[in-house]
Amino acid sequence: MNIMPLPLRHIARAQEFDVSFISDVFALADTLGPHHARKMSGLILASLFYEESTRTRFSFETAMLRLGGHVIGTENAKLFSSVAKGESLHDTIRVVGHYADIIVLRHDDANVLDTALSAARVPVINGGCGSDQHPTQALLDLHAIRARLGRTEDLAVALAGDLLYGRTVHSLAYLLGKYRGNRLTFVSPKELRMPQGIKDYLERHDVESEEVGSLDEVVAKVDVLYQTRVQKNRFADEAEYERLKGALCLSRPLAQRMRDGAIIMHPLPRTLELPTEVDVLPQAIYLDDQIESGVAIRKALLMTVAGRT
Ligand code: NCD
Repeated sequence: MNIMPLPLRHIARAQEFDVSFISDVFALADTLGPHHARKMSGLILASLFYEESTRTRFSFETAMLRLGGHVIGTENAKLFSSVAKGESLHDTIRVVGHYADIIVLRHDDANVLDTALSAARVPVINGGCGSDQHPTQALLDLHAIRARLGRTEDLAVALAGDLLYGRTVHSLAYLLGKYRGNRLTFVSPKELRMPQGIKDYLERHDVESEEVGSLDEVVAKVDVLYQTRVQKNRFADEAEYERLKGALCLSRPLAQRMRDGAIIMHPLPRTLELPTEVDVLPQAIYLDDQIESGVAIRKALLMTVAGRT
């Protein structure tokens, strides 16, 4: 009998997930407590990071190790892999698929993702590519929202900061757009507005959205305020970055105007936009809940792409 191999399940872009996939991943993440079966034993994750990371790399690696799997990789693939000798990403991904069962890839160029997907012999997880998308961050963000607010629908969400170059807000906007009744407010300086393609997608999916220029207009109205840094590394012109970097700051007095049950989120790392004085507010969930969801969601994703649920 001929057994057909299962199609590869890549985790590439947030708009590709359907809501049943998202609920399955959340359900799995919720069943995985700190003590759980060694579901990934015998499997190897390769973490190929061509761009800086703390949380994404460590949480994927933690997830794999806690599930009894193994990790190989490099935190600086530009310097410490054969790319430094001129190897193409295609060849690297193709070859690494002979060593590892899953690849998590982070890269500063969003255009390489399709090359990686077509070269891969094993599932590839997008760990953040260029300024385009960071789909696993969006899943963990939505999971943290649901854990605190009890729902993924009928939410008033403000996405604030660098909406042009910030990949986390792009992926999160796509995910929020999949649920009924969500209303998005984009808060940014005019130079850093949400890309038109994402606004068009939301319009096609009948998601209400508006653009404003200051946090002051939204803090008291939203269930979720998702703050982001201005992405210094994506600016060609340093003077332009200097001019915009402090554009939107969530000061403590401003944050205190939020509703009691509302939440303040941030993908981290933070710079000027989120002073540490906000951390003690009950609404702040970026140093704990989001981090916990990060490991749980990444465990669930690893098991899902490996077919080990
Ligand atoms: C983000 C990223 O890398 O896109 N960080 C993360 O993965 N948690 C956000 C950022 O770099 O600003």
